[in-house]
Amino acid sequence: MPLLSLGSRWKISWDVLIIIAIFASSLVIPYRLVSGEKQAGLLYWLVTFLFIVDVAVNFHTEVKDGLVILTDRREIARYYLSSWFWVDLISALPLIPLFGWVWGPQVSVLALVRLLKLVKVPKLFRALREFVELPPALLRLFVLFFWFSLIAHVMSLGWIAIGGGEIDRPFFDRYIRALYWCITTIATIGYGDYTPNHDSNLQIIYTIAVQVIGVGMFGYIVGNVATLVVNIDAARASFYTRMEEIRNYMRVKRIPISLQNRIKNYYHYLWETRQGITDVDFFSTLPHPLRTEIALFLNKAILEKVPLFKTADEIFLREVVEELEPVVFLPGDFIIRQGQYGDCMYFLNTGQVEVLVNGKRVAILSEGSFFGEMALIKSEKRSASVRALSYCDTYKLSRHSFERLRQKYPEFDRQISEISREREKSLEGEE
Ligand code: CMP
Repeated sequence: MPLLSLGSRWKISWDVLIIIAIFASSLVIPYRLVSGEKQAGLLYWLVTFLFIVDVAVNFHTEVKDGLVILTDRREIARYYLSSWFWVDLISALPLIPLFGWVWGPQVSVLALVRLLKLVKVPKLFRALREFVELPPALLRLFVLFFWFSLIAHVMSLGWIAIGGGEIDRPFFDRYIRALYWCITTIATIGYGDYTPNHDSNLQIIYTIAVQVIGVGMFGYIVGNVATLVVNIDAARASFYTRMEEIRNYMRVKRIPISLQNRIKNYYHYLWETRQGITDVDFFSTLPHPLRTEIALFLNKAILEKVPLFKTADEIFLREVVEELEPVVFLPGDFIIRQGQYGDCMYFLNTGQVEVLVNGKRVAILSEGSFFGEMALIKSEKRSASVRALSYCDTYKLSRHSFERLRQKYPEFDRQISEISREREKSLEGEE
């Protein structure tokens, strides 16, 4: 069996399956126990099988020991045997049939041993939170749902076990009514249509206990749900707050409405394309090697689109990627103006631009193109204006970095000079 890595899809799916199995057995085992069912059902055998396989899976899964990831099988086995192995093994044992066969049917309480596996649930949820791309708020809701339904379930069964509700009904009817009693008590609704028997101290004490625990639990849930709702869209909320500040600022400074609209559009574009976080915000908090990795990943699109980069080797790309600076332009923006001195060139990641010579369009450039190189190569003024036709995500390369790259990588220099010469020729044709 190959070694499963911690965040792999297989391992995550397996963990989800185990969580479902634990949930199902935690519901079914106490239910069967209170209803007096003695036989091990199909689910019991299925879960037994899954839990046994789980032990094997754990021997073949990477382990995180603090911050270190163990990949050596012997170390993994040693770590597992000294941590979760016993919990996994004991909860996997088919105790009902094993002991039931020897001692008769009274041993079904032993089935509860399986619920030992519940202690592993927080660890499984933690792993999911770390590796699954679900909104954290949603995952917290799942966790709340998991524990709340189990506790309500057990409390309802306890209510039946001490003779609460209507004894002469079939078991399932009693269970539904007990659950109803439990929820109304926990949620402090207390309609009073199902109440403890006034002659039974046990039922009254049980009800007090459920009320006390219930109040705490209910408060916890209400508090959590409230924070969840606030957090679900925290990013959007903070974006709107920031927009509000910007709007106020622009109003106070009496910035012309048309300019205000352009600024608003820019921020909306940032929100739509990167949830309001600019690459610069994000990068500034990262250490250097991580920044290069992220830059390589984020700029993969541009590296694949620009023919110039497609054939380049890894060392060159790593260097280029560190020098590129993302810049956004809005439709109608002049990125370059004819006649000015140039100190940078651009690579176009998304969008379209037009090249204008003396106000006349000579070319349209789209994704993967570059422009602004001529002024750098020839140390002359800009030969044309370049204007954005749509929203443009570009990457800027400074003159200094451009010169350095040309000197270091002659192939890059050759290709870029060749394209530049062709453009120059076509411009001569225009004149
Ligand atoms: P530069 O002269 O620095 O600034 C204007 C840019 O427009 C120029 O570099 C080229 O990158 C680009 N450009 C000029 N003429 C053409 C053309 N005919 N086709 C495509 N791009 C051009």
